[in-house]
Amino acid sequence: MGYTVCIKDPSGSAACTRSITVYEGQTLLAASEQMGQHAISVGCRGGGCGVCRIRILSGCYRKKAMSKTHINEQDLAEGVVLACRVFPESDMEIVSEPPPPPYNPFI
Ligand code: FES
Repeated sequence: MGYTVCIKDPSGSAACTRSITVYEGQTLLAASEQMGQHAISVGCRGGGCGVCRIRILSGCYRKKAMSKTHINEQDLAEGVVLACRVFPESDMEIVSEPPPPPYNPFI
């Protein structure tokens, strides 16, 4: 059984710009890649680079550990996660997030 994930435009539009089907045990990023979608940026695929940041608007999911360098406690509280570490457990609505700026120790 698969779940339908609606990918919305970051502009705040209510409509789904794309949708993907995610199967049991598959990450959001893997499903997006398998369907030839480019709505979620692809990087290391292992939770270490932060390129695949998304914001979850609705739906249930489980997740694996994520680098705190890229996803902090506030991000998690706001539903911002890494698509390569998220396994949907229901239909979902998400929006892509821009990757955080590179770390600068002088700021
Ligand atoms: S692709 Fe690198 S953290 Fe997801």
